[in-house]
Amino acid sequence: MSQSLTDLPLVTVQKTEKKSQESYRVYIETFGCQMNEYDTELVRSLLKSRGFGFTDHGEQADVVLLNTCAIRENAHNRVYAHLADYKALRSQRGLVIGVLGCMAQNLKKDLFDSQSMIDVLVGPDAYRRLPDLLLQAIEARTRGLAVDLSEYETYEEILPVRGGGVNAWIAVMRGCDNFCTFCVVPYTRGRERSRNPQGILIEAQQLAEQGYKQITLLGQNVNSYRYQDWDFAKLLLSVAEVPGIERVRFTSPHPKDFPPALLDAVAEHPKVCNHIHLPAQSGNDRILQLMGRCYSRKEYLELVEAIRRRGDIALSTDIICGFCSETEEEYQDTIRLMQEVEFQSAFIFKYSERKNTIAGRKHPDDVPESIKSERVGRLIEWQRDVSARKNQALIGQSVKVLVEGDAKKSKNQWMGHTESNTTVVWNKADRLVKPGDLVSITVEDGSASTLYGSPTSS
Ligand code: 5AD
Ligand code: SF4
Repeated sequence: MSQSLTDLPLVTVQKTEKKSQESYRVYIETFGCQMNEYDTELVRSLLKSRGFGFTDHGEQADVVLLNTCAIRENAHNRVYAHLADYKALRSQRGLVIGVLGCMAQNLKKDLFDSQSMIDVLVGPDAYRRLPDLLLQAIEARTRGLAVDLSEYETYEEILPVRGGGVNAWIAVMRGCDNFCTFCVVPYTRGRERSRNPQGILIEAQQLAEQGYKQITLLGQNVNSYRYQDWDFAKLLLSVAEVPGIERVRFTSPHPKDFPPALLDAVAEHPKVCNHIHLPAQSGNDRILQLMGRCYSRKEYLELVEAIRRRGDIALSTDIICGFCSETEEEYQDTIRLMQEVEFQSAFIFKYSERKNTIAGRKHPDDVPESIKSERVGRLIEWQRDVSARKNQALIGQSVKVLVEGDAKKSKNQWMGHTESNTTVVWNKADRLVKPGDLVSITVEDGSASTLYGSPTSS
């Protein structure tokens, strides 16, 4: 939202008579990860099947839903800021406000009781109850809360309402049983459960028929995927065989149990992209143990070696700086790990203590904010240089790019990604090119985040 809603002209909707559900327009804002984006698509489907309509403008909506994230404190803060924006509209014209997702699940009744402008609060396993709760809130002005976690809910038969384009995401499993000590996900998304592969394959076929070209399989820890005799590698290879799908990706695997068959799939199947996102979190053994990651620095580096031996597979990672009691020396081990691996890209975060997590209960959050920020800054700078150097090393080479759409900055340029997930931008020259095509681009320049080039002349 670029504009505060309280700055917008006041729209007064007289609700003198009961409206039909179709006339209730819902606006959904999504925060957080790809799994949350996927859940928003599920929620759209559940609401659509009950007759709700949608709008892309919060100021025109009867219902505003915030699908929230809880992973770091700043994710919470963003939601509080948005809630404050909508508060005036609620009192002026009876807007119904719903908070969904991980923050709803994490804070539950505390959030519901402390924020009286929230009409409906629903956690990630309770979305089937959302339509009824919303209708009650709209028509009877009752407030409702549904935050039960489930060991079974996979929304198996719900077909997400997707936004179109070339890329689609499919959640293959939900929840997480790893309990990394810093992480709130096991508490917000509950126990691990895998979807039936048949349903996933049918969804992939339907996506191909609708023109989607790239599928990303999602799970909090995809290598834990199990359904009878299906493991994740088997599922990935089967999705890669769906006619019409050109590229398959997945996120995220856990380094502690990366199966050889999954590496084979990445290295050998032409449609499984040669990119692995492998969250390291830290390069220091004491910190890794304190984080409950179940691998050592040496084991992580051995896995990287094994991946590198299989060919040109890009690696990216997640790093947390300033975890409980992390010393400068221990942080230096993370720098050295990053220097050794030279990731294609990295997401680098300040540790943010989360309520209820093991670290939150057992280990003091004792690294000062200023030191956390400084450590993050140093790593971001290092990574930016590595990414730029890697991208510039591609100058003169031809890369295969999936055309996704207009570039952000200009409608006269196309934007797409390489197999290793680097953004590529080039001038539109060939009229026959369209989103969904795989094209060859000769790289002419590279920044830390983007490759620039032109169509390879054949
Ligand atoms: N503080 C900071 N970063 C976190 N992540 C997860 N929990 C926290 C936390 N409490 C990061 C991890 C994870 C990514 C999705 O978010 O690096 O891999
Ligand atoms: Fe996604 Fe985790 Fe944030 Fe939930 S808490 S939205 S699972 S990143």
